[in-house]
Amino acid sequence: MAYTFGYTHQAAKRAPAELTAVFVGKGDLAAVKSVLGQATTSFSAFATIEKFKGTVGSACAFPHADGVLLAVGTGETKSRTMDAWRQAGGAIGKRLKHLQLTRVEVMLPTVAKSSDREMIWQAILEGVHLALYVFHGYKGSVAKAASENPEASTEQRVTFVAPDARQLTTLTSYARDVQASCEGVFLARTLVNTPSGHMGPQELVEVAQKIAARSKRISCEVLSQETMRDMGMGATLAVGQGSSKESQGVHLVYTPAKKAKKRIALIGKAVTFDSGGLSIKPADGMMTMKIDMAGSATVLGVFEALTQLAVDVEVHGIFLAVENMPSGNAYRPGDVITAMDGTSIEVLNTDAEGRLTLADALVYAQTFKPDAMIDLATLTGACVVALGEEVAGFFSNDTKLTQRLTRAATATGELIWELPLQASYKELIKSKIADIKNIGGRAGGAITAALFLERFVKQTPWIHMDIAGPAYTEKETRGDMPYGGTGFGVRTLLDLLRSF
Ligand code: BES
Ligand code: ZN
Ligand code: ZN
Repeated sequence: MAYTFGYTHQAAKRAPAELTAVFVGKGDLAAVKSVLGQATTSFSAFATIEKFKGTVGSACAFPHADGVLLAVGTGETKSRTMDAWRQAGGAIGKRLKHLQLTRVEVMLPTVAKSSDREMIWQAILEGVHLALYVFHGYKGSVAKAASENPEASTEQRVTFVAPDARQLTTLTSYARDVQASCEGVFLARTLVNTPSGHMGPQELVEVAQKIAARSKRISCEVLSQETMRDMGMGATLAVGQGSSKESQGVHLVYTPAKKAKKRIALIGKAVTFDSGGLSIKPADGMMTMKIDMAGSATVLGVFEALTQLAVDVEVHGIFLAVENMPSGNAYRPGDVITAMDGTSIEVLNTDAEGRLTLADALVYAQTFKPDAMIDLATLTGACVVALGEEVAGFFSNDTKLTQRLTRAATATGELIWELPLQASYKELIKSKIADIKNIGGRAGGAITAALFLERFVKQTPWIHMDIAGPAYTEKETRGDMPYGGTGFGVRTLLDLLRSF
């Protein structure tokens, strides 16, 4: 199924839809009855009405004059957050995916205040879009192109209907932004979903190059393994040396049309597969480790969106792509390696590799004197233990940047929580033979990992986001987050970039 989106208003003449989605607040059954009106006398429809309560994300289909009316719950009016609208949009999209319909309408709610209207409609559009993502994976013949797939040729047109004709221009302009950021999210999801055998360092580099080729505002510099050696990125190269795939780095730069107010660096962990190396992971822990490049996928997702969205800041996207494998050539527990700034690191566990690659990436990023830098990484299982699979942990050395990030995350509905850079825990990563060691014991594992990174940050305002939990989901707890890579962080980072 391929989706196209349309935008219109209620008074416009249009062909009847097979499915019409309407939003219904908790307990507001009168709303459903008024839409159904005289059109149905079906006893069973009204019986279902009584069971449908309108809680956030719930949905209920009723037979209607020409097709189906899908009532979607938005919960209690008083306690309703912006995210309830996104979740309701997600509930619609999730159902559409399972139906072979060609014409669908989503009736946007009437909102008096224009600033609220903008946010609510955007949240709805975003929810519907995000839910419609499908990973065109490997079912059936892998060789068969998507275009040959009969399913892909059916087109579903989803039309969003504004209550008033005068609102159509603003609606289409919100829609453009939403579509651009969702395309960024979709790219991030697909990169995470693609198995490591098809998404190694070289493939990640090619994705970055293709993005740059499509925008005159984006440039892409590739750091070959040799260049990385010349630059002294010894920590990253040590992680990658056990793999038959060469390590490679990427440095994307987005330059705004007007003179930039600020320079922001986005850094992503890009371990294309994390076997643990010689400190090898047990089978269960290794099963999902194709996702260990999710940080870089988020950075690429942001740049994908920047091919269509304008921001006023200069954006640097940096990742050092490696594969962490055991082999005769692999780095070993006990080895001492040297990061780009000369710091010596005692490696006591080759599975704590993300922080090693990020150390070099952070040092490299600072050579461009950014006003702020944000790294995203599937860094620790400990962060998942602390905050669960839905919430990312973050650490920062700067309260202003923290406020900005928190505001952006609230607007986009992505869940983040601050954890402390507890200075006294630096003791835990002291090494007897080198400047620092790469593990700090079981207790406070997400914090000691962040403290390790902090050691490579000089004066720059910085945020480290540990996305090991929310980068990936198998639970489908909400419609707008289908199984697999979530694209977590793309929308929040875009919102943050636009706040400057
Ligand atoms: N990539 C993992 C972290 C991870 C775990 C991501 C689960 C997503 C889901 C990371 O490289 C790792 O292995 N960390 C170790 C660190 C330990 C050896 C200090 C961990 O968390 O166990
Ligand atoms: Zn690891
Ligand atoms: Zn890892």
